Amino acid sequence: MRLTIAFVAAALAVSAAGIVHAADDPITARQALMKKNGAAVKTALGFIKGETPYDAAKAADAMKDIADDLTTFVTLFPEGSDKGGDTTASPAIWTDMAGFKALADKTVADATLAQNAAAGGLDSFKTAFATVGGDCQACHQKYRVKK
Ligand code: HEC
Repeated sequence: MRLTIAFVAAALAVSAAGIVHAADDPITARQALMKKNGAAVKTALGFIKGETPYDAAKAADAMKDIADDLTTFVTLFPEGSDKGGDTTASPAIWTDMAGFKALADKTVADATLAQNAAAGGLDSFKTAFATVGGDCQACHQKYRVKK
């Protein structure tokens, strides 16, 4: 019995430390934002491929998520966070922060255009979203390393 209590206490201590760690861990935070981007793109592609009936409000929300995420994303690259975790961020980010931020700004602008285009119907959304998809790829090619 004593052993069990000690074990539970130890487990709790570990998970509490884990929570604190995640809160000030920029690598985890930026990857979580990108996972959200992935989900937003999945929603958009569902409409575009005809797998889900088109919903203008949901399409606009997904684009707003991308614009919001990319605004925060670029603030999560402090000096030294190119290592020390399971990151695929390229060292090029720290040698060319201006270029990296410019691409993020372009993505925010294009996602906002797509957000507004959603109300115009699927065809108008599709065209605007293609540009956003291109932005994801362009940044990954330049500022992400393959593992
Ligand atoms: C301005 C640059 C930039 C743009 C634009 C961008 N990404 Fe990323 N993305 C990155 C970087 C850098 C990483 C690697 C982050 C890390 O591992 O620290 C990444 C990682 C990811 C990951 C992996 C996250 C994980 O779990 O490790 C996904 C998924 C992703 N991006 C999706 C997207 C999608 C979808 C878009 C477009 C809507 C997008 N990204 C736009 C730079 C960008």
